[in-house]
Amino acid sequence: MRKLLRVLATGVLAACCAFAAAGTWAADAPLSDAEVSARAKALVAKMTPAEKAGQLTQFFYFGEAMGPLGKDPRMRKQLEDGVAEGNVGSLVLVYEPALANRMQRTALQSRMKIPLIMGLDVIHGLRTIFPVPLAMAASWDPALAERAQSVAASEARAVGIHWAFAPMSDISRDPRWGRVVEGSGEDPYLASKMVAAQVRGFQGPHIGAPGHILSGPKHFAGYGASIGGRDFDEAEISDHELWNTYLPPFKAAVDAGAGNIMAAYMSLNGVPAAGNRWLLTQVLRETWGFKGFVVSDNSAVRSLARQGVAADDKGSAERALAAGLDMSMGLPPYDKPVMGTLPQSLQDKHITAAELDRAVQRILETKIRLGLFEDPFVDEAKAESVLNDPAHHTEARIAAERSAVLLKNEGSLLPLDRAKITSLAVIGPLADSQRDVLGSWVFPFNKPHADSILAGLRAKLGTAVRIDYSEGVRMPPRLYPSPLSALEPRLPARAPLDETAEIARAAGFAQRADATVLVLGEAQDMSGESASRDSFELPGRQQELLDAVVATGKPVIVLLMSARPLNLHDTKARAVLDLWYPGSEGATAAANLLFGDATPGGKLPFTWVRSAAQVPMTYSRIPSHSAGGWDRRYWNGPNTPTYLFGHGLSYTTFAYSGLIVGQPAYKVAEPVTVNVELKNTGARAGDEVAQLYIRQRTGVSSRPVRLLKGFQRVALQPGETRRLTFTLTADDLRYWSAETRAWVQDASVFDVWVGGSSAANLAGSFEVKRR
Ligand code: BGC
Repeated sequence: MRKLLRVLATGVLAACCAFAAAGTWAADAPLSDAEVSARAKALVAKMTPAEKAGQLTQFFYFGEAMGPLGKDPRMRKQLEDGVAEGNVGSLVLVYEPALANRMQRTALQSRMKIPLIMGLDVIHGLRTIFPVPLAMAASWDPALAERAQSVAASEARAVGIHWAFAPMSDISRDPRWGRVVEGSGEDPYLASKMVAAQVRGFQGPHIGAPGHILSGPKHFAGYGASIGGRDFDEAEISDHELWNTYLPPFKAAVDAGAGNIMAAYMSLNGVPAAGNRWLLTQVLRETWGFKGFVVSDNSAVRSLARQGVAADDKGSAERALAAGLDMSMGLPPYDKPVMGTLPQSLQDKHITAAELDRAVQRILETKIRLGLFEDPFVDEAKAESVLNDPAHHTEARIAAERSAVLLKNEGSLLPLDRAKITSLAVIGPLADSQRDVLGSWVFPFNKPHADSILAGLRAKLGTAVRIDYSEGVRMPPRLYPSPLSALEPRLPARAPLDETAEIARAAGFAQRADATVLVLGEAQDMSGESASRDSFELPGRQQELLDAVVATGKPVIVLLMSARPLNLHDTKARAVLDLWYPGSEGATAAANLLFGDATPGGKLPFTWVRSAAQVPMTYSRIPSHSAGGWDRRYWNGPNTPTYLFGHGLSYTTFAYSGLIVGQPAYKVAEPVTVNVELKNTGARAGDEVAQLYIRQRTGVSSRPVRLLKGFQRVALQPGETRRLTFTLTADDLRYWSAETRAWVQDASVFDVWVGGSSAANLAGSFEVKRR
């Protein structure tokens, strides 16, 4: 209340006063649309064009720890002056409560006293780091993703952040693209569920709910299809792929109430996304009814000139505004914000006052909903207790355990029996890395912590088990360093390693150990933004290390850290467990999984191709005219992937039976029910992800040979049977046809399969009839 009075005392918002007097301003009850709109409108009416342009301007704040741009205090002063003058409406990279409060006080010095909205890439946690989003998708557990983002939101809000640039909702079918790590994989159905859950996790029951933040799904739209998997290059996507594959996760995000959308960088079918009226207005607002505001990706408004749809900054801002973009995210120079050109455009009549006001209105409405006018400040004394809440770590451990995927487990090598293991070799360039366990989009200045896998095993096994450690080989550096490495602390140089000798030493360790854990994969900066790759080989000499250790003939378990399918050349290692980048509690989770204190239950959210040459390959391909096998297209080698979409083993086994479709025939638009029995046929408790796939036999378009349309992650005790019911809605059975150029639900016979991967073979069918 004191803070509220302080803000009001400075003369903010007559409309807000009336509202506060009514005593209904607390953010734990949502405001009505009419109230929000009236308050924003009253503000807009008092603003100058320059102040309006200020609200459309978001800048990165570079603190001292943030690379070369942070080293110049004069630049920061320039930014703060801009905030005080009302020329900036939002900041990125303000991550400390004291700094957030100082910047808010600065914003309240401006004539209109409009608080800042602080955004950040809160992708998979802030201090407590969860597994990377691709891993979370591998859990096939939307409720888990919702809880994780709710934890992330509480930590972010505790330090003064109001808005996450997440979830990444881009479908990715080309794992050469590094940003696969940030999304939910190849399938629109799975991705839609994961995206919607994350939006709910970030935002809570409504925008402005206490301890929650705004969610900004990105990158609208098509970024995952950058040609050649090359980050930032253009995307060429057919209408049918857009509507059926790339847009559904965004639609799901909008339906889940996302209050913001970030427009992508790249050109979609020749039109840059930040200036793409079809995307930002026709699809997003007119077709889907999105009511929030749209932000550009970093400097993407200014880039419209570089991308050839505007001549200069002024033309870029005009183009973006006309397309339906509201806020420009940008880098210095701070005295030349691209949206700062809009007052001149207004004078020149290149934009209308209504267009400008519309964008400002949307941003102010969001600030009002978030309760920023009532209290833009954060409790500096409380932040650390929220950031260090032990319950957050418990959630992170559970998430790491549930997202791991057991790719291979010959002879049930896993779980290891603690009673029988007296010595272990722990080998590999990622075995003793703390940083790589966390993955990308983790900022050192948020002080995240993780133990290495080696430390996790030591903690679990104590002194009773001898552990021999060798890094084996070094992770080679990237040829072109990641731009994000500017945010990482500089590590001391290490003495060079004689890799040939170290491989021999590692093999010696494996020889004398009861079992070997090899921790291999890609360093965290090999996936993520600006991290495309044209090969799926293990970087450096890791394959040689793997082969040498396997050649000992002793039991070998490979723990993988990666966010793309890596080619292990059909390794004879008996077990392969993909941990992805498992986050703060990854080490404990890995040790629990290896020794059976947790059972893997994750499934692949993408097709694990053999090599980059097979890309793109999806399980949901369109049937071909050729009667010959789709697995014989390349004459020179295996065509099939190494692992199928949806694949993942457990320490127990499951059996599916009794598939029953509710009725043999349904009318168009009627829901279809499918029942199945799932039994844990093994000797251990475990989770199975039951997956339902359909195929529409005939229609105006050719439909995919299989499409995921339902899944349930189920925990079963040994011998336990559960009857599962799936419901297929009209939405699940319709699709966008390039023949009718519209959404259709055809009358057709549908095949349906339920099972533990996209190779599910328990089959049934039903018919959908016109009448
Ligand atoms: C990325 C976005 C991110 C933004 C802000 C951009 O380069 O494409 O995903 O939200 O930077 O950090």
